[in-house]
Amino acid sequence: MTTRSSLTVVLAAGEGTRMRSSLPKVLHPVAGESLLAHVLHAAPNGSGTRLAVVIGPDHAAVADEARRIRSDAETFVQRERLGTAHAVLAARTAIAQGTDDLLVAFGDTPLISAETFERMRAPLKNGAALTVLGFRAADPTGYGRLLMQGSKLVAIREQADATPEERKVTLCNAGVMAFDGKNALNILDKIGNANSKGEYYLVDAVTIARDMGLEAVVIETSEDEVRGINTKAQLAEAEAVMQARLRKAAMDAGVTLIAPETVYLSADTKFGKDVIIEPFVVIGPGVSIADGAVIHSFSHMVEASIGRSASVGPYARLRPGTSLGDGARIGNFVETKAAKLEAGVKVNHLSYIGDAEVGANSNIGAGTITCNYDGFSKHKTLIGEGAFVGTNSSLVAPVKIGAGAYIGSGSVITRDVPDDAMAIERSPQSIREGGATRYREAKTRGKKPKHKT
Ligand code: UD1
Ligand code: CA
Repeated sequence: MTTRSSLTVVLAAGEGTRMRSSLPKVLHPVAGESLLAHVLHAAPNGSGTRLAVVIGPDHAAVADEARRIRSDAETFVQRERLGTAHAVLAARTAIAQGTDDLLVAFGDTPLISAETFERMRAPLKNGAALTVLGFRAADPTGYGRLLMQGSKLVAIREQADATPEERKVTLCNAGVMAFDGKNALNILDKIGNANSKGEYYLVDAVTIARDMGLEAVVIETSEDEVRGINTKAQLAEAEAVMQARLRKAAMDAGVTLIAPETVYLSADTKFGKDVIIEPFVVIGPGVSIADGAVIHSFSHMVEASIGRSASVGPYARLRPGTSLGDGARIGNFVETKAAKLEAGVKVNHLSYIGDAEVGANSNIGAGTITCNYDGFSKHKTLIGEGAFVGTNSSLVAPVKIGAGAYIGSGSVITRDVPDDAMAIERSPQSIREGGATRYREAKTRGKKPKHKT
């Protein structure tokens, strides 16, 4: 069996006016990843596949995102926004190179799956000229309606052009189409703009194919898979669908989510076995959590790797570049950034560890701060294996604390501390016998005490 080649054209030139945002619509995130990235991940990939993304003028950021996800993506600019068929033809040169299957997807339907693209390609193998993806909409308002005669698809009617009778149809156009490459350009070139909006509608491909004596078929899928995002409310609906999917996949893979509906995951979150996530945890992009780790409530993490049997939170914030070794412990109100904590490190309370490396089994006391920023640039703090940093210490970077070193609590460390050395750096304590009593008496008389407190 020879596999058919494919070209996927993703339409992403729209301004997304209804999002009321300065960010191009397809760059809005769902589960930590742009709408466009979700679609590109689902599109056919690998040998014999090509990808083209149609973007608007001034949308360099969209082109960058396309290439970040798929380095082989070609981008085409649609200068004027004259409709979905006009947008597909912006990629004419890619289409004209020839392909067995031409797939058209919208950059604003992020929940589409790879499996659906494959299902749509199957009828082409058997001679259909065109496959349309349909779904039963709970509320079809705004969608193109699929007009059937029996089991035959005869036309797609846009909301604005539909009669009241046609508007009652709930079988809708999802937007994804698959063309047999042989006829694709021929059909697309015949699409005109004689409709109420004066736009070149891709949906007209159906009637044109039929008039050419070719077959157009419908494949149905669930509404959740093809929700088109035009507004912020629809963005939130898609997020809810995606989160439900991700939580279920995590639980199916053995992750314990005590209150799944309160845990936010990213599309790229990676879990080992026997991970436990307590309620109210937010996991941003780029996080991996190894076997047996426990994430306690109210923790927030982005671009972090968490080692086996490590413990995080409650109330911990792991920022980009955090790596926790096996069995490491990050406790409440601890923030980490660009910090490599080796196995068994403990930072249990109220600390900031940034631009730092902490050797295995070191104990970082409550309130320890790596002072990484001098107002001009960032500097590194290096802490050796088995060091002990007493509570409320400031480690003024750049600074190196040797392996096994001991830092007395309340120290402000500005110079390197050798291995196994002890450093205590704080102002001497002043004691005035009876001073507290004199202070309270002065206060009762409404007078300030003579000496400073
Ligand atoms: C479109 C379909 C409708 C379908 C619905 C599903 C057409 C004419 N209508 O309507 O049948 O039910 O999607 O969500 O195809 N785009 C461009 N350039 C253009 C116009 C659009 O790139 O000139 C892109 C948009 O960025 C978007 C996609 O095409 O990603 C769809 O455009 P949109 O305006 O959202 O179409 P809908 O009105 O939702
Ligand atoms: Ca849309």
